[in-house]
Amino acid sequence: MNQAEEIKSKLDIVEVIREYITVKTVGANFQALCPFHNEKSPSFVISPEKQIWHCFGCGRGGDVFSFIMEKEGLGFMETLRLLAPKAGVILQYENQQDYSERNRILDILELAGKYYAHILTTPTGLVAREYLLKRGLSDENISDWHLGYSLDSWSGLYDFLKARPLTGKKYTDEEIFLAGLTIKKEPVAASAGRRSGYYDRFRDRIMFPIFDVNDNLIAFTARVNPNKEKTEKMGKYINSPQTKVYDKSRVLFALNKAKSAIRADDLAIVVEGQMDAISCHNHGFKNVVASSGTALTSEQVALIKRFTPNVALLFDMDAAGQMAADRGIKEALAQEMNLKIIVLSSGKDPDECLKNNPEEFKTAVASAKPMLEYYFEKVSAGLDLNILDNKRAVSLKMFAMIDLVVSKMEQGHWLKKISEELGFSETDTREEFVKWQSKHGVLKAGGVRNTKPDKNEAKKEFLAPEMSRDDKLVELLMSLLIKFPEFISYSVDNLDPDILNNEALAKFYRDLIIYYNKSASLNYESFRAYLTEDGGGSEKTLDKLVLLGEKDFYDYGVESVKAEIINIIVELKKYSRQRQVHSLQREIAAAESAGDNERLNVLMDELRKITAS
Ligand code: UTP
Ligand code: MN
Repeated sequence: MNQAEEIKSKLDIVEVIREYITVKTVGANFQALCPFHNEKSPSFVISPEKQIWHCFGCGRGGDVFSFIMEKEGLGFMETLRLLAPKAGVILQYENQQDYSERNRILDILELAGKYYAHILTTPTGLVAREYLLKRGLSDENISDWHLGYSLDSWSGLYDFLKARPLTGKKYTDEEIFLAGLTIKKEPVAASAGRRSGYYDRFRDRIMFPIFDVNDNLIAFTARVNPNKEKTEKMGKYINSPQTKVYDKSRVLFALNKAKSAIRADDLAIVVEGQMDAISCHNHGFKNVVASSGTALTSEQVALIKRFTPNVALLFDMDAAGQMAADRGIKEALAQEMNLKIIVLSSGKDPDECLKNNPEEFKTAVASAKPMLEYYFEKVSAGLDLNILDNKRAVSLKMFAMIDLVVSKMEQGHWLKKISEELGFSETDTREEFVKWQSKHGVLKAGGVRNTKPDKNEAKKEFLAPEMSRDDKLVELLMSLLIKFPEFISYSVDNLDPDILNNEALAKFYRDLIIYYNKSASLNYESFRAYLTEDGGGSEKTLDKLVLLGEKDFYDYGVESVKAEIINIIVELKKYSRQRQVHSLQREIAAAESAGDNERLNVLMDELRKITAS
């Protein structure tokens, strides 16, 4: 067994896919809304027994590797690296070259994380450690979150990484730079006799590593030395730059720790700061992630949506925090997330609130407000709603927000609500909303949502080509025969592969018959091996048909299977006859215009035979 096979054998495809989408049990298999295209009813099927998946909407399918490659946009090696820890397999690389650049960067970051964490435990790190303890963290917290400290030095990390640390691996200056850990010196400084052209990016700061959802350390955010908070010009926090492994807009701090709680609670709470997130986890709110001070991006919303459709935003009540929340709100609504807002009345941020008044925090979380209710209160705060101008202004602001709600029913709910609050009639409010929408709404003509074009849009909207009705029938028949091979002989007796219109499916049918006759049974693995040997790629058809059978016939008993097979065969024969009739009619017309009477008679005879049968 090679490593890929070992990883695959130790993973359950359903569990892996579950981390990305909500999967429902249907009979012996699992179904879901396809994550690769937009759909309303599930056509994505997983077979736990065969460890494969297929989407009947967009035609994608494969095994656990192809799912991750597609979903995460990774290459095969990177996919192995991601799945290996989940499978408890330690990847052995044959040589250094097997490391992709990405993997080497991850190694460097991991090493840097260990280095910073170590410095925090030394006397030099004492200032930082005391500060963290003073803020309510324990030593255990510090090690759980892998917090660290960077030396007040231009080359502390650089020197450590260049000194062939721990693993004995060597990293180039360029690689360390690409990991985002150093900054290139200006040419003048670089040539001034110093030994390297780079200096450490993070100096004299408390280091918060940022992990991706799979526990890879991909970046750092670094807080200023508390003693220098007043004088530091660079800002309270500085962050890793965009790198091969870190895209700020695609990461949520603490999601790696929070994801299982988010799924269990069916709710994600988003705060702004990493100290806030850590503090929430400490107080038992394990479903908290941090957006790191920016508005939620559509990618971050999609990341959360892998685990739950419910988000509660808990942002600082200062102006910047509000701005961040507003943009995040739009992204979340556009993705049909169920959105609530948590409002803290006292204490500037969650961390302070938890410290001063944990009960208040608990109450605030429990009484999170639906986003539109919160928004109404916000835009009408301080306004006298008996004055018509105020009512008009508030309703316009509400229209813009209600417009972003995808569900028509929910839109109706909020229109009714604002009509009541503002003392307008519901009908008038609806009418005005429709007028407003036609001018400013995000809906295009025909009711199509005019959302921002997504980078993956072309990919997402790719659908499998529409199949002809008789091809669909053949696929259904094949899937039934695979699931209930005892009917293969019956089918052979009643349906000749030669009459099928689709050559690929006819060949599959022939292969099925040949294989079944040879082995007198149908074993998925060995039939698949048989098809693979053939080299025509029909093993992929097999996987698809297996899942089609499980999707459409999981609850069929022998009697209904037989009835279904008979129906399909009757209908397929009808199609075949129609095709024969059409082609004869064309030939007859040709013979007529050529004046070939002898041929005409033969053809007419044939036509009579077919239509009589
Ligand atoms: P805050 O200024 O609210 O900081 O910024 P905080 O989280 O309360 O930090 P403490 O409690 O003083 O330690 C919220 C978040 O915005 C980002 C950081 O991710 C921070 O956690 N931020 C803030 C920056 O990226 N750069 C900055 O200069 C400031
Ligand atoms: Mn704070």
